[in-house]
Amino acid sequence: MPKAEAPPVDGPRGPLVEGDPALPAGPGVEETVEVAPPEAAQEEVLVLDFGGQYSQLIARRIRECGVYAELLPHDLELETIQERRPAALVLSGGPASVYSENAPRLRTELLELGIPVLGICYGMQAMALALGGKVEGADAGEFGRTALTLAGDGGRLLAGMPAEQQAWMSHRDSVFAAPPGFEALAASPGSPVAALEDTDRGLYGIQFHPEVVHTPYGQQILDRFLTEIAGCQAKWSPASVIDEQVEKVREQVGDAGVLCGLSGGVDSATAAALVHRAVGDQLTCVLVDHGLMRLNEADQVVMAMEELGVNLILVDAEQRFLDRLAGVEDPETKRKIIGEEFIRVFEDEAAKLDDVGYLVQGTLYSDVIESGGDGRTADTIKSHHNVGGLPEDLGFDLVEPLRMLFKDEVRAVAAELGLSERVVWRQPFPGPGLAIRIVGGEVNKERLDILRDADAILQEEIKAASLYRELWQSFCVLPVVRSVGVQGDGRTYAYPIVIRAVTSQDAMTADWARLPYDLLERVSNRIINEVPGVNRVALDISSKPPATIEWE
Ligand code: XMP
Repeated sequence: MPKAEAPPVDGPRGPLVEGDPALPAGPGVEETVEVAPPEAAQEEVLVLDFGGQYSQLIARRIRECGVYAELLPHDLELETIQERRPAALVLSGGPASVYSENAPRLRTELLELGIPVLGICYGMQAMALALGGKVEGADAGEFGRTALTLAGDGGRLLAGMPAEQQAWMSHRDSVFAAPPGFEALAASPGSPVAALEDTDRGLYGIQFHPEVVHTPYGQQILDRFLTEIAGCQAKWSPASVIDEQVEKVREQVGDAGVLCGLSGGVDSATAAALVHRAVGDQLTCVLVDHGLMRLNEADQVVMAMEELGVNLILVDAEQRFLDRLAGVEDPETKRKIIGEEFIRVFEDEAAKLDDVGYLVQGTLYSDVIESGGDGRTADTIKSHHNVGGLPEDLGFDLVEPLRMLFKDEVRAVAAELGLSERVVWRQPFPGPGLAIRIVGGEVNKERLDILRDADAILQEEIKAASLYRELWQSFCVLPVVRSVGVQGDGRTYAYPIVIRAVTSQDAMTADWARLPYDLLERVSNRIINEVPGVNRVALDISSKPPATIEWE
């Protein structure tokens, strides 16, 4: 099974995974002070986004090389770029043809700043065109795995790498002649110039995508560019963010009280742990147990926070939520009710505390990018699902210590801060919890308990088979229909449980996981034998699209 490794991206219908249904920054919450680039980075690379689907991944891969990188709009002011004094600029790919009317324009001034530049795909074409090369549409583009052949020794960028290698391409236009002063470094069947460089001016370009795993030498090429060409020290790591964020949080909040809502997920737990390291007992965490969590989940959060010495208020609000969900079947109404009730419970708790001035949010860099706060050209901005909206009079300033981190980096920080493996590696879980996994009927205590118990068995068996980390998500769904079965001497009329297990990189697309038959058999037997009210287990074998990961 492919490894699920990318940070989760919003589903189309609700707040982000790990999202507390109601806590996220809403319209009523005061604007956060933008977090400056980490000082620990010292050196940083700016990835200028021309709208490519892999732009975020470029930034992540550069960070994996040990160099802090940010994704910013392609038209970022020149002065800002100069002020930040980046070690290098990377021009991302993009969906446009360099010749189309609305194509994002590459400013040639960017190439004259004396900062090494690497153009990727569209970025390389735009650079080649701007400097007098020949870029033209080919009859057929190149999409997917493509054979790459080095020209000569591969120049400074590709020297020492295999003369024949594979690269991932996704383009229609091609560079047919490098601009004056440039050397062509490689070619592919559809790209006479698939890589080029002008070492005097510090300008480099590759037609293929080094950031995707299907380009085996991609990471090595990025590393070469960063360390040997741009002279980066490559000492950045996610953990190096901790000290500097601790300082920042201290500076931001002073003596004020800080409130943090926990969801049980790794983001809010890590944000809490970091803020606790910064201001200790000034932090109070609130965990609203809405009765829609998985088995023992609330207890596990309590334990994790106790281990770190974090003040935690556990609010048992199960009955409040059940009362409001009684008789409700429509998925969106469920989500709305849960979101609203969450705010109420949270507000009630906040009102009991003195001197709270700040609210901690586990916002991640992918949320920032997806919501259009940074990077991303206009047509690719998605609405920010992680917005439940806090009432206007809540009036807290936000503390967002993870704002510049990708999901896998948060896991590294979580581990460094001493959070348990269980928290660090928890699969994404929707804010409205099990409520959106009881479909086609009312959410009530009996059904929640059935689903919770079945889900616990599935999790236990998946962990025992060492598959938990490989799966993006694995869970049970309870469709509210009954079917006939036979158990012992009697007939039963009970619910089915559907197993849903998917692999995914980012939740935008997903494939059903090919779980081993013997595992499925164990899970099925155990659920039917151990969970009263269930007499049938089915497996969901739909990919996304056209299905979604959750059932509603
Ligand atoms: P779908 O079902 O749209 O899910 O393929 C994509 C990802 O989003 C999660 N999801 C939610 N998360 N509130 C959340 O916090 C929601 O209402 C919600 N709906 C879907 C889902 O678990 C998956 O990871």
